[in-house]
This record gives sequence, C-alpha cells and structure tokens, in this order.
Amino acid sequence: MTASLPQLPADAPAAAFAKALDEHGAVIAHGVLDADLLRRFNDELDPILADIDPARSYLSPAIDFFYGDRVRQLTGVAAHSRVFGEEVLCHPFYRDLCDAVLGEQCAGVLLNVAQVMDRGPGAKQQLLHRDEDVWVHLPRPHPEVQLASVIALVDFREELGATLAVPGSHRWERGREPRPDEIAVAEMPAGSAVVYLGSTIHGGGTNATSDGWRRGMHMSFVVGWLRTEENHYLGTPLDVVRTLPERSQELLGYRAHDAIAAGGGYLGTVDLLDPMELLADGRLGGSARERR
Ligand SMILES: [Fe+2]
Repeated sequence: MTASLPQLPADAPAAAFAKALDEHGAVIAHGVLDADLLRRFNDELDPILADIDPARSYLSPAIDFFYGDRVRQLTGVAAHSRVFGEEVLCHPFYRDLCDAVLGEQCAGVLLNVAQVMDRGPGAKQQLLHRDEDVWVHLPRPHPEVQLASVIALVDFREELGATLAVPGSHRWERGREPRPDEIAVAEMPAGSAVVYLGSTIHGGGTNATSDGWRRGMHMSFVVGWLRTEENHYLGTPLDVVRTLPERSQELLGYRAHDAIAAGGGYLGTVDLLDPMELLADGRLGGSARERR
C-alpha cells in the first residue's frame, strides 16, 4: 500500500478540510480530541466495552458478517457516555466541518452514526465500501449528503488495523475496485481522526496483533432531511437528551429541519411545533393533551 492521505491540524480552517475532501475524498485531522478529553472518554468507555461480547449477533447475517466476531461494537454512544454527549458530539471541529461540506445541501445536519468499534486481535479487514451506499435509492450523481470519520481512541498503526481509505475514490465510476497500491493506511496518534466523504471507499484494517485492541469511533453526519442509520430518538433516553447541550440535542434530531426559506418545508415536527421548544419548556414526552 503506497497511497497516502493529506493531513491537517484540526484547528486548520474548515475550508482547508473541505478542499482536501473535495480533492482527495479523505483527510487526516490531527488533534481533534485533546489529551484530557481523550483520557476522560476512554475512562468512561473502558468498563462499558469490557461488558460487550464481540460475537454478539445483529439484525441479519449480512451485518454479522460485516462486523465479524472479534469487534466490540458500542452503538448509541450518547446513551452511554456523558463525555460523548456533552463534548465529543457537539465538538466545534465537526460543527464547522459539517457547515463547510454539507451546509449548502440542507438547513441543518444530523448525527448519522456514533459507534465505538473496538477491533480485537484477529479482526479481519472489513469489506471495503462506501458509507453512502446504505441510501441505495438516492439517485447518482448527487451532492454530498454525508460526512464521516473514524476517531482514533488509541494510536492507529497498520498492524493494529488502522482504517484503510482510498484517496480519489469519491470520483471513481461505480464498480472500480482499488489496486493494493491505491489504498492508504490511516496511521495516526490517538485523538486524531480520518475524515472522509460518504462516497469514499474505505474499511477497517486487519488486526494482526495477538493482544491489541484497535479502539476507534465512527462518527458520521448527514443532511437533516435524510433518514439516519441509527435511530437516536429511540436509542437515547429522553431523560438523557434533556440534560445535553443544545447542539447535541439538535444533532440527535430534536430540531425541526426548517427549509421554508429555501422554498421547502418543515421536517421532524411534533404537533406542528419544533421539538426543541417542547424540550426546553418540558412539554416533550407527555401526551398530546399535555402539550396544548
Ligand atoms: Fe464505513
């Protein structure tokens, strides 16, 4: 594998990231989570991950195959981690990047997926794929609908199964498979992230170590009018949502998507009201009669 990815410090302008993504489809952002935030997040995750069975099964054999039986997968992270809900989810790095990459295509973005993927010894390379292919009904070509990333929660090394990404593949015709020398290995220190477009080919690498766990978090965002892969309304208890920062509440889907100014309409209303307002004044979660 000889391909490489562009690299930028996380505090570089969002426009520089958007340009790198447009040109290469993927970019490494260094220092997204600082050392203190990283430590507190990992401390919170340690006991949760220790309780997860890597061989658990999912909703279909296809998903079982995709994740394999050597990966501890924590979904719905906002329901489990205060550090995630209060600091990682609403991190300004992602706010600015989402604005730059997805802002023109929507009135607001949503968290699509936040999953910790703790890839254990023997975890095989994931099928290389494009994340946006879950929306198979979306006509192509189309403007970007998704911004994805994998945050390294430990140092990502090739033998530990660092994420693989194929620079330039966001522009390839469908069906073109990458040659080995077109695949880059996103080696990076803990706290950095590989950021990529929904149309960029990528996948988790093989964990060839005998005792190392490659702990990373997939975090991706989509335009606010697209159905998200994870159902955050049902996955995050309302009592938790109530305590989160406003930005995190919005990303979990509680802000109505208001495209009136663009000639569109509202999505995600409750009783034709903005759920954020109902959340703020305590009327969300009760009966329709109680809201009036
Ligand atoms: Fe993926």
